[in-house]
Amino acid sequence: MSANLLTVAMPKGRIFEEALELLRRAGYDLPADFDDSRRLIIEVPESGMRFILAKPMDVPTYVDHGVADVGVAGKDVMIEEERDVYEVLDLKISACYMAVAALPTYDPGKDVAPKIASKYPKLTSDYFREQGEQVEIIKLNGSIELAPIVGLADRIVDIVSTGQTLKENGLVELETMIPITSRFIVNPVSYRTKAAQIDDMVDRLAEVVGKGETV
Ligand code: PRP
Repeated sequence: MSANLLTVAMPKGRIFEEALELLRRAGYDLPADFDDSRRLIIEVPESGMRFILAKPMDVPTYVDHGVADVGVAGKDVMIEEERDVYEVLDLKISACYMAVAALPTYDPGKDVAPKIASKYPKLTSDYFREQGEQVEIIKLNGSIELAPIVGLADRIVDIVSTGQTLKENGLVELETMIPITSRFIVNPVSYRTKAAQIDDMVDRLAEVVGKGETV
């Protein structure tokens, strides 16, 4: 692998398409078959870039360790992972929010030590601590909406996008927690050693995002 390419960690899954479109709008000429293979590393030397395709929750880990210079990560993942990376731009894509949900029959007032299922144990624990409520957190890796239905948990903390998953599983939202969008993140060392390349990328992305505001 050529060392002077800028390594970009991209989240596989639902953010991927929107992130790719944003990069293309920012003027990056990415191959047409970029997204339809099983390859995890894609080099685009003509743009001076290499892309690594990671699980969304792992993107800040790659950037923190410096094996990726920059990356695209959801605010949810940034809060959960607390990595040592710079969050330089709100890309305003993949907008959704975190919410607490439960079965409609559930009465939060009556629950003494509620079980909360989530993919985000840290975020969930911080949230309920701030609310002054003692809860037991059950960490799951996906399909969180299943937990209250089968009796594994009383409530869930999860991402809501269209609301379809909650609806189709007969759950209702109890509290809206935090709005979420994807962020452009940068490794602090890379920000110094590859300043020109990274500044150029931030400028190009900021331009298409709209106002070019930083966070
Ligand atoms: C996410 C999230 C919800 C769903 C919300 O799951 O955890 O389950 O999307 O989207 P909606 O409001 O548009 O229905 P994802 O599909 O990423 O898979 P997961 O359940 O494996 O986490």
